[in-house]
Amino acid sequence: MKAPEELRSHRWFGGDELRNFSHRARGRQLGYNPEEHLGKPVIGILNTWSDINPCHMHLRERAEQVKRGVWQAGGFPLEFPVATLSETYQKPTPMLYRNLLAMETEEILRSYPIDGAVLMGGCDKTTPALLMGAASAGLPAIFVPAGPMLRGHWRNEVLGSGTDMWKYWDDKRAGLIGDAEMSELERGLARSPGHCMTMGTASTMTSAAEVLGMTLPGAASIPAVDSAHHRMAAASGARIVDMVWEDLTITRILDKRAYADAITTVLALGGSTNAVIHLIAMAGRSGIPLSLADFDAIARRVPVLANIRPGGDWLMEDFYYAGGLPGLLSRLTDLLHTDRVTVTGRTLEADLAAARVHNDDVIRPRDNPVAAEGGVAVLHGNLAPSGAVIKHIAAEPHLLTHTGPAVVFENYTDLKKRIEDPSITADSVLVLRGSGPLGGPGMPEYGMLPIPAHLLAAGVRDMVRLSDARMSGTSYGACVLHVAPESHVGGPLALVRDGDLITLDVPARTLHLDVSDEELERRRAEWTAPAPRFERGYGALYSEHITQADEGCDFDFLARAGHNPEPDAG
Ligand code: FES
Ligand code: MG
Repeated sequence: MKAPEELRSHRWFGGDELRNFSHRARGRQLGYNPEEHLGKPVIGILNTWSDINPCHMHLRERAEQVKRGVWQAGGFPLEFPVATLSETYQKPTPMLYRNLLAMETEEILRSYPIDGAVLMGGCDKTTPALLMGAASAGLPAIFVPAGPMLRGHWRNEVLGSGTDMWKYWDDKRAGLIGDAEMSELERGLARSPGHCMTMGTASTMTSAAEVLGMTLPGAASIPAVDSAHHRMAAASGARIVDMVWEDLTITRILDKRAYADAITTVLALGGSTNAVIHLIAMAGRSGIPLSLADFDAIARRVPVLANIRPGGDWLMEDFYYAGGLPGLLSRLTDLLHTDRVTVTGRTLEADLAAARVHNDDVIRPRDNPVAAEGGVAVLHGNLAPSGAVIKHIAAEPHLLTHTGPAVVFENYTDLKKRIEDPSITADSVLVLRGSGPLGGPGMPEYGMLPIPAHLLAAGVRDMVRLSDARMSGTSYGACVLHVAPESHVGGPLALVRDGDLITLDVPARTLHLDVSDEELERRRAEWTAPAPRFERGYGALYSEHITQADEGCDFDFLARAGHNPEPDAG
């Protein structure tokens, strides 16, 4: 147990220096009496609430419940508004800004008198960003996931945000539904606060945060508007105060076993391919080398048990009623390291003691999985020397071994201009380049290339598609993603030409361009690097320091080991 004089904040508020006096005087200015906060753990609540983020619209109020818990446990809560990354609205993609929020998180925690942190987020990139920054800062921290939104509804049908948007948009393009239906769908797709309620990036990453040990048990599955979410927020606020006294830092929780368990869980959830990039980046901040090979190795022995869209049938609300993440984990204990400590101060095994599954279709038993193997496969070959990924459970099985002629698009604008080319056939392999970490920039979620309307009308619903982009976790299809190195830096993807034969072989984990090495060398000699995307500002900093997809797209200067000194607060 720590003594009050050992608190980090004591360096600001205790002591007899002029600065300490000033900090106490400003505490009076804030409206607090000395006995209300001196000697208590200062809890920084890092809140990604914003008017523009529908997934976090309840977090302003939810922070009040966190504060309630902090006060009751004898702490002193202070809320810090930090950058919001709104997947829907921020362009070209919030991925460009994940590292910016991670930097902000780390430096807020370092520069202020904070003893412990409550991290509030959930919309896609906010979860990895907050955890990356907190891991680098190294203080006690607890994650309060925003929670999924309620199921969508339309004409007595249940809708998944994202997933059904793509589906009905294709139906509209195929002439199956009109403006009246679309107007109703616009009102029904997303009807409550909370993040996407399919197994998209948000649910994948908040679940990863939970199994890493960074949330209270069960926290990630609670719908955003359920009263249980309020109670979880208050309990998280109370728990972080004790974590400070116990000196239960994030560094003690996030070890190699935790990240292995996160990969296992993401795969058993049939989770988003974005998790591959985020978990590599997060582990890097914990000083743990994680690679694409780790994902592929674990994927081969982990079955998909969560029957949730887009890979399955149900939504996060159903998953919660079925027992939520603890229910799922209770069926995987032999594949997990359950002797690890979590934010509760207990082991994962103890946290899961009361976990049950209440619906065997939503959370499948081991002998009746959604898929026998994990949902993500890692591919290599002359087209992806540093690797590529495919979420093969969300693809039509007949495309998992396929050879076809390339139809190459230079970038997204070119794609939009030429995608309706009538010469494209169902066998074509659609190739999009210029969409990687530097080329996109920020690897926008262009990876589910649209299917040409004339093929949709003919009933085609999936094709082999290939890019250096990412794909929304709510998307589906035979989409090969994260091809590395990206075309912008001269990866082989830059050298593909229309009509080249490309072979995808998921069982063999290969991606092959049927062009000789000599011919590729000749093309490489003719290739010229594109102009830099940014001339100044954050974009220029990003361009100079971003790593490739297989390395997690962190900044090289953030990912490296090293120690920054604590500020002098006296
Ligand atoms: Fe925020 Fe999907 S838009 S989680
Ligand atoms: Mg998404």
